[in-house]
Amino acid sequence: MEAYHTNLGNHDTSVREAATHDYVRFWDGEARHLHWFEPWSQTLSWNPPFARWFVGGTTNMSYNALDVHQETRSDKPAIYWEGEDGSTRTITYGEMYRMVCRLANALEGLGVKKGDRVTLYMPMVPELIASMLACARIGAVHTVVFSGFSSSSLADRINDSGSGVLITADVGYRRGGSIDLARTAKEALDRTPSVRHTVVLNRAGPAPHGWIPWSDMMEHPDSHRAAAVSSTDPLFILYTSGTTGKPKGVLHGTGGYMTHVHSTFGWAFDIRDGDVYFCTADVGWVTGHSYVAYGPLLCGATQIMYEGVPDYPDASRLWKIIERYGATILYTTPTALRMLIKYGDKIPRSHDLSTLRLLGSVGEPINPEVWRWYHDTIGGGRCPVIDTWWQTETGGMLISALPGIESLPLKPGSGTLPIPGVQMEVVDEEGTPAAPDTKGYLTIRNPWPGVMLTLWGDDQKYRDTYWSRFPGRYYPGDYAKVDGDGYLWLLGRADDILKVSGHRIGTAELESCLVSHEAVAESAVVGVPDSIRGEGIVAFVVLREGIQDANIGQALREMVAGQIGPVARPDAVYPVPALPKTRSGKIMRRLLRSMVTGGSTGDTTTMEDSSVLDGIRDSIGGRSG
Ligand code: WT7
Repeated sequence: MEAYHTNLGNHDTSVREAATHDYVRFWDGEARHLHWFEPWSQTLSWNPPFARWFVGGTTNMSYNALDVHQETRSDKPAIYWEGEDGSTRTITYGEMYRMVCRLANALEGLGVKKGDRVTLYMPMVPELIASMLACARIGAVHTVVFSGFSSSSLADRINDSGSGVLITADVGYRRGGSIDLARTAKEALDRTPSVRHTVVLNRAGPAPHGWIPWSDMMEHPDSHRAAAVSSTDPLFILYTSGTTGKPKGVLHGTGGYMTHVHSTFGWAFDIRDGDVYFCTADVGWVTGHSYVAYGPLLCGATQIMYEGVPDYPDASRLWKIIERYGATILYTTPTALRMLIKYGDKIPRSHDLSTLRLLGSVGEPINPEVWRWYHDTIGGGRCPVIDTWWQTETGGMLISALPGIESLPLKPGSGTLPIPGVQMEVVDEEGTPAAPDTKGYLTIRNPWPGVMLTLWGDDQKYRDTYWSRFPGRYYPGDYAKVDGDGYLWLLGRADDILKVSGHRIGTAELESCLVSHEAVAESAVVGVPDSIRGEGIVAFVVLREGIQDANIGQALREMVAGQIGPVARPDAVYPVPALPKTRSGKIMRRLLRSMVTGGSTGDTTTMEDSSVLDGIRDSIGGRSG
């Protein structure tokens, strides 16, 4: 019988007890750990499905991330930055504060006001975090667009958010090469009339004509009074894929989100003053917002920020970084671990990883064998592994072991328990609680501080997407089961959203991209198991009458990569004579998936025309592309 445990010596049962007793009062207490300019008059206004936390209170995220540390930690490193080429920078809390103040002053000089949207399209550099904090400082709403996205994805997000300012960089560095972000940004700017100013972190040369170079921004005064922002005012929009063709703008607020991220960062990572925390997530995704940009700074922690990929120049890169900076906490994805496992144990074993004391996983289910490798080979058997489940929409972790407050037996592959104050239930189709160990739908019964405010500009869609499938409950779209000990096991998405290398990609978005090609009449996209990336993308297309093109599969793969971004490039695109459909016209993705994986097609009696499967089998048989 194996025994894994969060054995860090913390066991404060009063936290969970207080939260279970009265979650509103509990979060009220948590919010008091942060600085508020004016206190709130109402802890929670719960007008389902709209939760507003700490109503009437005013605060500022940037103030809590920076100003509060200036007396005690101004010389403490906030960020050890490392570029892929090995160049390094250290940025202290004092330097970060001054950079953010200069930027905030400069943005105000450009006319940016509270509530205005600013799009950030930057690689993994400290200036990206500084830009987020500068927006927060003046009450502007940032919308970070992952630097791997294409010009049309960037333009769509700028237009949807109505951003007046774009902050970008000329280049990002990755896999030994440079990525021309300025060119992508310029293409996007051709169709974004709302953008009045473009600021550029010009790393490789002079700023493009008409753009404001970073150095101009840095000429502004290095002190700035943080605006008093209402707790319920928006902090950021982050676009994420849903089940429709267009990404949704998830809107997060200030005080609730800040409280959630602050508390969970401390609970999950047992953060202490001497820690060196290393999260490999890109700031362009929500993990990078909550647990790179905000959580560590709110807690006054030191972190490593790495611009590059984990296997460049070779598979020892992460272990070298851990050794060089003496990292104590590593937070990464199952995909990164699965990729590194295949290089064997010798590489990690030949590095000094003895400073590590806690390991985390995020973004997709972690296979038990990967969990054990992480625990034994990377953690040397000493470090608890926490599997943290949450979403862009939830703002912060909702399921995780919390070694900072609790001592708890761990089970590889289970996220363990909901965080204090959050009531979850796994239910069947009708919404009645599922029996133990039975697969059902994860639901959440009460609001938590990090819950999104709404979808940007679409309250109705917010209601329909998250609160209608099981009335009165939040439905994240995940399958789960609860075991006899009350532990939760996440069992993947229950909808048409794929998790490819932990990135979230909606099949509907891919399909609408594919049918935008003149040769394509219909398309269906499915996720297929992939031993490293969790899921791979396979597309089926029905071509328009008369189209014959042997290279169409390859052309469509590249089109998707160009239109959405390389993360969305399908592994294969198969032209087929027809798609399998039910009599009511619904595409039977289950059948398509089993055609690729070689599994049984199971019950096909609801099919409109069962000969379609033979046609597909013939089409995908010899061909790929
Ligand atoms: C979806 C949310 C968590 C922040 C980064 C991803 C899946 C996330 C886990 C986990 C199993 C997980 C879920 C969720 N997911 N973490 N620990 N175990 N599945 O945020 O891009 O909004 O994706 O990722 O399906 O709904 P996201």
